[in-house]
Amino acid sequence: MAKAEPRKTFAIISHPDAGKTTLTEKLLYFGGAIHTAGMVKSRKSKQATSDWMEIEKQRGISVTSSVMQFSYDGYAVNILDTPGHQDFSEDTYRTLTAADSAVMLIDAAKGVEPQTIKLFEVCRMRKIPIFTFINKMDRDSKEPLALLEELEEVLGIRSCPMSWPIGSGIDFQGIYDREKQHVELFKRGEKERNIIPLFQDEENNEKVKSIIGESLYAKLEEDIELLDIAGDPFDKEKIDSGLLTPVFFGSALTNFGVEAFLEYFLRLAPAPAPRMSDKGEISPDSNKFSGFIFKIQANMNPAHRDRIAFLRIVSGTFTRGMSVQHVRTGRRVKLSQPQQFLAQERNIVEDAYPGDIIGLFDPGTFGIGDTLVEGNQAFSFGGIPHFSPEIFARVRAKDAMKHKQFHKGMQQLTEEGAVQYFTTAAPGAETLILGVVGQLQLEVFEHRMRGEYGVEVEVQPLGYSLARWIKGDKKEHELNLIQYGGSLTVRDREGRLVVLLENEFAERWAKEKNPDVEFTSTSYE
Ligand code: G4P
Repeated sequence: MAKAEPRKTFAIISHPDAGKTTLTEKLLYFGGAIHTAGMVKSRKSKQATSDWMEIEKQRGISVTSSVMQFSYDGYAVNILDTPGHQDFSEDTYRTLTAADSAVMLIDAAKGVEPQTIKLFEVCRMRKIPIFTFINKMDRDSKEPLALLEELEEVLGIRSCPMSWPIGSGIDFQGIYDREKQHVELFKRGEKERNIIPLFQDEENNEKVKSIIGESLYAKLEEDIELLDIAGDPFDKEKIDSGLLTPVFFGSALTNFGVEAFLEYFLRLAPAPAPRMSDKGEISPDSNKFSGFIFKIQANMNPAHRDRIAFLRIVSGTFTRGMSVQHVRTGRRVKLSQPQQFLAQERNIVEDAYPGDIIGLFDPGTFGIGDTLVEGNQAFSFGGIPHFSPEIFARVRAKDAMKHKQFHKGMQQLTEEGAVQYFTTAAPGAETLILGVVGQLQLEVFEHRMRGEYGVEVEVQPLGYSLARWIKGDKKEHELNLIQYGGSLTVRDREGRLVVLLENEFAERWAKEKNPDVEFTSTSYE
């Protein structure tokens, strides 16, 4: 994709079944990247097109996720896919560290759901702009005003509706565009956009009224007046800092409201952001190439047991075959087989620019958070944090003789970021505890330890559901956790003190008993 095209790099955050796949398909369709719906993933069978791992076939789901690029209206758009469903994992969170903005997709009948809340928190931590698309308006929905209230109450974010729905379900008539002051009428099966100006002249007002009916017209008039008086005004600065979310309504399945959304989104979404390094901020305009690795995926190609490291370009120009410095090891690396992703197809990329994501062939050199730079620049981007796992298990090799392979496997799989491990603090009698965000990762871990390292592992589930990193240099014995059984103090791979907790109740208890301790849900400093 040409450099001249401004980049828009974003991820869609949503709860399973809100319509992420459907929306992605429609966006790709507008970009001309696919011509028929259903190419992103065949939903009905829940079957992935890639077959790179046995376990995928066994379970019939996709463990992989892709980066999709397309052009629209002079922009180069990069969509980072955030795995949901059963393959929800720490990767899903990590992907958000490579996005410049997020589209929060909400099912109009369900409102804000748990997975959306978790992903939203990561976006908030990064202060990136969040654009809300309220989907499935062709079905009965919650009251639009109630949905905005929910955003505020559950997520603590103010909202500014850019469009407003007229009815829902069988009464759904379309949306009103507040800026352009027109209605876009909804008609099932209609491909052309049917737009009529509204609240500007009597003739069109009457026309719209006769189409949508007196009562919906009156309600729309009332709602818009209320929003104009009592709603949050459009404020680009607040949107840019993630304090205000522009809200759009539509129906991805019927491709209604998607194009209008895309046009606003491309205009308002931020360009690739500068990124902080240990030597100050690195601007996308800097002419020397730099980037960081945010995700590593093993064995995508069953013919080669390789890994693909996903790199987000921060500055400069990437050209195929260039030689870069791998800052952590100080080694020079030639990037000869870079790949870019278009839906499920992988292509060799010749050059790429800030905001783009490339897949690098990785013989085992790269780790999550690694920085690659051109020439002799000597800086590192801030690391990518660990996020709280939700499932914990004690693990050991069934056969003690396989101790070495066991540790090698643990080492590599944690480097890829598929699992985290913790050790109990007792010196000498250390126990390894594995932490994963989704159940599937635990199964993948067992499968890969057996398949790739020849180790049968014993996995004993533990009853904790969250990890909290302890800020500062507190020691285990300085924490007041003894009286309550629902917690365990451990160390993470980097030696940081972490408390594993049974549930949110246990967390509240721990916080109350340790008012001077800061508990965080990521390993960020
Ligand atoms: P996901 O990736 O977020 O999990 O959601 P996906 O796009 O797979 O959509 C989930 C279901 O919701 C699909 O139904 C899809 O057709 C439907 N859907 C998505 N957008 C809309 C919309 O705007 N209106 C309506 N009415 N439905 C929508 P499905 O394929 O039948 O799957 P399922 O319901 O059997 O899970």
